[in-house]
Amino acid sequence: MDGRKLILGIESSCDETAAAVVADGTHVLSNVIASQHDLHAEYRGVVPEIASRAHAERILPVVRRAIDKAGISLQQVNAVAVGNRPGLIGSLLVGVSAAKALAWSLNVPVVGVDHIQAHLYAGLLDGAGEADAVKGAYPALGLVVSGGHTSLFQCHSPLRANVIGRTIDDAVGEAYDKVATILNVPYPGGPNLDRLARQGNAAAYDLPISRLSPDSLDFSFSGLKTAVLYAVQGVPDSGRRKESAPAQSGIDLNDDAARADVAASFQRAAVGAITLKVDRALERPEAAGVRTLLVGGGVSANSLLREELNRIGQQHGIEVRLPRMDLCLDNAAMIAGLAYHLLEAGRWTGDALSLSASPSSR
Ligand code: KG4
Ligand code: ZN
Repeated sequence: MDGRKLILGIESSCDETAAAVVADGTHVLSNVIASQHDLHAEYRGVVPEIASRAHAERILPVVRRAIDKAGISLQQVNAVAVGNRPGLIGSLLVGVSAAKALAWSLNVPVVGVDHIQAHLYAGLLDGAGEADAVKGAYPALGLVVSGGHTSLFQCHSPLRANVIGRTIDDAVGEAYDKVATILNVPYPGGPNLDRLARQGNAAAYDLPISRLSPDSLDFSFSGLKTAVLYAVQGVPDSGRRKESAPAQSGIDLNDDAARADVAASFQRAAVGAITLKVDRALERPEAAGVRTLLVGGGVSANSLLREELNRIGQQHGIEVRLPRMDLCLDNAAMIAGLAYHLLEAGRWTGDALSLSASPSSR
């Protein structure tokens, strides 16, 4: 008899169909992610109806692969966890329906998990190891940077986090995706723009870092996005080129070096806006006992952001938990990991048939 608590996680909130098996809340035994990037590439963004249809086709093969890769049988699963909020409702419903059916047929609990809270837990999977290491991570400052969210949290435990700052307009991932479109960078925009930025000169354009009021922990990315548009299209007074070339001329999108310079300057400003607020949050008196910076969401895969957050962690003498690359983007291991704590705390619905999905966080 296997003494470990094995949780099957399912995630289908946006454009990744994912399933994973996690033992005892931290050990990732398998983490299968079927990306739909190829299906949405020609539209340069996620088309909800296409996403839900693809989830429906892929969900069972993905679950089967996660079980096989974990080296267990479906009957060994102690609970089924599913991301049931927030997200695209049609996509969420595919994962929720699959999870309910599996849990009902196996006669095990089904646990609904908040996707954003799960992103905050991703850095504690695997590397952190044992349950004690998870406990030892709190109190923590949490940062979620994704396509739909850019928020700072005060985290007391895996299940208790208060928002202390959030974006007042675009999410940082959304800004990456929009700037990628402006610069003709192929979908998916975020990782490709990150790669292009590494080849450019980050000091070429003086793009704005939003500060908001002096003690604000909120974020804003719409001004930066507009400044990039002006730098590319050539409207004067925004995105001024520091060197001799006049801003009015904009850039030639066939000139790869010029595109890389804009990408690098954007990346410097976008990452600078995040690190500024993380720094501010850590300097507040409320942050005195903070031991860890927990980071999650697709943009935590960003090369410059990872470097900068590690630097801030060293400066403040706190540990920085950046998820390994396959746990930054939407994945089901973070869902299964967090579900372990919900089960331990007795915080799950109890009845497989009553679990529902919601487009927003409750
Ligand atoms: O967490 P995630 O997979 O989905 C949401 O919950 O939104 O995050 C996806 C976002 C997209 O906007 C994508 O462009 C961005 O994360 N992203 C990146 C990088 N990798 C993914 N942005 C910047 N640099 C990256 N390396
Ligand atoms: Zn996400």
